[in-house]
Amino acid sequence: MLTAKGSSEEETHLKMPRISIFGLGYVGTVYAAGFASKNIEVIGFDIDEKKLKLLASGISPIYEPGLSELVKDCVHKDLLKTFSTAEDAVLNSDVTFITVGTPSNSDGSIDLKYITETSRVIGEVLKKKDRWHLVTVKSTVIPGTTEKVVKKIVEAASGKIAYKHFGLGVNPEFLREGSAVEDFMTPDRIVIGVSDEKSKVELERIYSGFSCPKLVTNIRTAELIKYVNNAFLAAKVSFINMIANLCQKIPNCDVTAVAEGIGLDKRIGKHFLRAGAGWGGSCWLKDLNALNNFARKNGLTLPLIDATLQVNDMQPFVMVELARQLIGSLSNRRVVVLGLAFKPNTDDMREAISIKIVNMLLNEGAEVKVYDPAAISNAKEIFRDSVNYASSANDCIRNADCALIVTEWDEFKSLKPEDFVRHMRIPAVVDGRRIFIPQAFSSKLRFAAIGLGANEYFNPALAVNAMIVSDSEKILLVRRTIEPFNGLWSLPGGFVEYDETVEEALTREVEEETGLKIRPKQIFDVFSHPLRSPVKHVVTICYLADVLGGSLKSSNESLEARFFSASEIPTRLAFDHHEIVEKYMKLQREYWKTC
Ligand code: UGA
Repeated sequence: MLTAKGSSEEETHLKMPRISIFGLGYVGTVYAAGFASKNIEVIGFDIDEKKLKLLASGISPIYEPGLSELVKDCVHKDLLKTFSTAEDAVLNSDVTFITVGTPSNSDGSIDLKYITETSRVIGEVLKKKDRWHLVTVKSTVIPGTTEKVVKKIVEAASGKIAYKHFGLGVNPEFLREGSAVEDFMTPDRIVIGVSDEKSKVELERIYSGFSCPKLVTNIRTAELIKYVNNAFLAAKVSFINMIANLCQKIPNCDVTAVAEGIGLDKRIGKHFLRAGAGWGGSCWLKDLNALNNFARKNGLTLPLIDATLQVNDMQPFVMVELARQLIGSLSNRRVVVLGLAFKPNTDDMREAISIKIVNMLLNEGAEVKVYDPAAISNAKEIFRDSVNYASSANDCIRNADCALIVTEWDEFKSLKPEDFVRHMRIPAVVDGRRIFIPQAFSSKLRFAAIGLGANEYFNPALAVNAMIVSDSEKILLVRRTIEPFNGLWSLPGGFVEYDETVEEALTREVEEETGLKIRPKQIFDVFSHPLRSPVKHVVTICYLADVLGGSLKSSNESLEARFFSASEIPTRLAFDHHEIVEKYMKLQREYWKTC
């Protein structure tokens, strides 16, 4: 393996080879405009005439931040052109990059129909070309494809010999959607896969204006690097998602802090450790399946790749389960999904995790409404009339019972807890992308988040809205931290807010609910207890119901309040907190004596 020398001023100013790019999808268009912006003459070619016409008139056929400007500028400067025939494109260039798609077959392997057809077309033109020409595969292809498929087809169609009459190379791309132009301009590295010196020199010349490390490998290694890169990134995200699911079982644990803690270790690195509802997009699933399929054909299994896929399949269930924990059964509930694109700043919904989440919600019998700042028209193609579509985030959450954050658009980051409280029928939020500050939200509404441990910010007990009608003198109202109660709000720090007016309102409410005549000071709001926290709170409820010989009664049927018996709590909360229970019960008894 050779590492190419860095660029020199002299090399940069050498006359650049002319480039033709076959396939004007998102990779092809970004590279076409990108190379042209580096003063290289580029010809774009695609079998789709619409794309050609758009590009010819200076309009990018795809959306990527910064791309329209780049295309317009390069077309204007005549550095980026189109030709309507493959022949003109190849004959008027020195190097052809193949950037066509490699979709999945049903068994996970890649479908090479576009690669084979493009190779054949290029080969037929090369038959008529006297000069040496370099064919470079930029599409993501399984190791061996360039040498076993592309080379053979070009040789057969041209009647020429690879490495002698034409060069062959592999040059994988690592562009992310949404920041593809930036990734092109400032890559972490450039990988050049070649078998002959002339092809190597030509590709190095093209990239001489880039100062990043350039790694020269053989062709199959370069092909594999692309897959391994995506597989590793997907594994990193699935790994942190797996840990996020563990964090949810640990009181007061938060995966964002765990990710920060491990990310500071330079050997791990902080990137791609954002836990969430799951990863999507057109590449990772396709590439991981292709890698698995390739390994199987070679008599191997790749257990870490399987696990990466498995964890990702689990995340939509985790999201739906969190929603269920917040509001109980989702049947006939108005559940809204904020964010549909597989990531922010794109309208791309290919393999978006939102699709699985929406379908699961529909299966649960929920009435689903969705909103995305960019992907609504793509969403309509997928969900048709099975869901309702909103025109803004606020419109989406209006009168809803639970909101799921599935894509971390900036627009959602600016939503405040008050927005949800004001608009929703039941203010309940599942943060699937960790865009909200848990403390700020959980004190004002029902809040759950991926990777946030069962603690005072999130607890199924928050769904309890009940009263204990005791045989003793006291009636205990047990409410979530904030819930409209007779037009009044129970705020954190209850005692401060708990004045005569509140007491009067509560008294009226209880009288209506129970049919009892309430005497002054007979009513007691459990939330005004200074030691409250959801865990202790549930314990308190059950404990008090037990010791006071009272019965539990929901004060709001529509909330499907759930009551847990004391023995059920540890399993419900999925962690052993006997010590806390014991300690708290003791404190509770002492406190109670003073009331
Ligand atoms: C990915 C790779 O990052 C690119 O290097 C590669 O060139 C490209 O695939 C490809 O093969 O064409 P892309 O699919 O555009 O790029 O998206 P990413 O930014 O990598 O995100 C992939 C998914 O992972 C998204 O759903 C994103 O929301 C999710 N993700 C990413 C997380 O959940 N957490 C993270 O920390 C990072």
